Amino acid sequence: MPVLPGAFPVVGHLPAVARALPELLAYGERHLGTHFWLKMGTMGQMLVCTRPEAFELFNNKDVLADLLGDVAPAMRNTMATQDGELHRRTRGWANPAFQPQGLSAAKVGDLFADVMMAWIEPWPKRGIIHPVEETSALTLKMTFRMLGIAEQDICAWEENYRNYALVSLWPIDLPGTPLRRSRQAQAWIDARLKALITELEHHPSDNGLLATLMRSASAPDISSPQSNLLGNLRALIHAAHKTTAVTMAHLMIKLAQHPAHWDALVQEARAMGAVPRSPAELASFPLAQALFLETLRSEPAFPLVFRRTRQNIELGGRQVAAETRLIIPLILLSRAPSIYPQPDAFLPQRWLEQHRAHKPIQTLQFGSGPHRCLGFHAACMQLVQFAVTLALVLDSEGMRPTLMPPRNDGRRRFPINYPPRDMEIAFRANLSAACFRSDDRR
Ligand code: HEM
Repeated sequence: MPVLPGAFPVVGHLPAVARALPELLAYGERHLGTHFWLKMGTMGQMLVCTRPEAFELFNNKDVLADLLGDVAPAMRNTMATQDGELHRRTRGWANPAFQPQGLSAAKVGDLFADVMMAWIEPWPKRGIIHPVEETSALTLKMTFRMLGIAEQDICAWEENYRNYALVSLWPIDLPGTPLRRSRQAQAWIDARLKALITELEHHPSDNGLLATLMRSASAPDISSPQSNLLGNLRALIHAAHKTTAVTMAHLMIKLAQHPAHWDALVQEARAMGAVPRSPAELASFPLAQALFLETLRSEPAFPLVFRRTRQNIELGGRQVAAETRLIIPLILLSRAPSIYPQPDAFLPQRWLEQHRAHKPIQTLQFGSGPHRCLGFHAACMQLVQFAVTLALVLDSEGMRPTLMPPRNDGRRRFPINYPPRDMEIAFRANLSAACFRSDDRR
């Protein structure tokens, strides 16, 4: 199978992966066919399969998830990189708290709705916002609050999470290097998580998410290095944050680009008159859900997922040897016409027309199989709440979102699929709403 041309020494194709991933993959498919190698810098050479069969890798027992630890060191030794029985035990512990019932019992929806409303209400007065900055700070705050972290401590947590996520191409552990700062931040986070867990002993009536996780009969022992309880909690915050933030930012941009969809969303939000506060209430907001799913399809937050074969396997009609590093190109599969007809069009109605539950492949942006996103229900709730809150707040001020022309088209697509860096959203008077109001007064 051919190697994609154009790799630089040492960094390989990484600069193009980071800046122009969809174009790079499309170029590879056009010129080299459905299977080709990408050079991923110090992570080595990885095989891309662009056929929809790549989705089946998620459920293949001869394919392991541990490779992610090389790409995202923050996820090392956590559920995202565990396999087999250890992973089954970890998910058996964490799953119930993140199912609709668990989220409702811990009143996570109430907390999200209140934090979001307080965050978004001042936006109309500010006039212009930077979507990625705003949604990153908002989701981090929601995630910390979900785990019971006090308001006044959030700044320190934010700073440590920024350092914890630092990645360096040359991992040297010296004072001031990204690796040293990341390790120090990790120690800080773990000490604080431990203190939060100890604190729960003094609050037996606390029924928040952390309490639910820690009081579960299958909660791992905090001192067991293998189960890595602190690492899993730490990674959960990390996984919950940026994916949701960039999807919220993309959603806002789509709503600004498609005024008819914005108007329809406002109608739906007005008809209900309040933000949903639990997973069960989401059913009353089918359009908000469709807008979120279509946004995520056209801009998947995780563009690539990584796997490693432990045995020889067959993939899309080709034999792949054991120990091969694989890429599942979610960003390309999200545009496969066989899964999503008219993939280049933004069509929320594709999610409304379907009356049965979605097939797993249709929500491939959350992965599938044993590692399917733990936060699927939490993310759906947050994104629908976000759309409805935005619609209610702007509508009450007679405003709508509009896009400011970006000064710079540069986008970072990997490891997270960001919108253009300096993209801004302005809130402008909604002329049709203003006319409507003056008509009302007559
Ligand atoms: C729009 C938002 C989100 C997207 C698109 C997303 C996407 C994904 C994907 C594709 C995976 C699978 C990775 C793989 O197979 O290697 C994953 C795993 C995971 N996600 Fe999410 N995620 C989102 C939000 C969240 C939230 C809100 C949480 C936590 C509350 C969360 C927690 C996790 C965890 C812990 C894993 C690892 C699960 C495992 O390996 O067993 N995610 N996510």
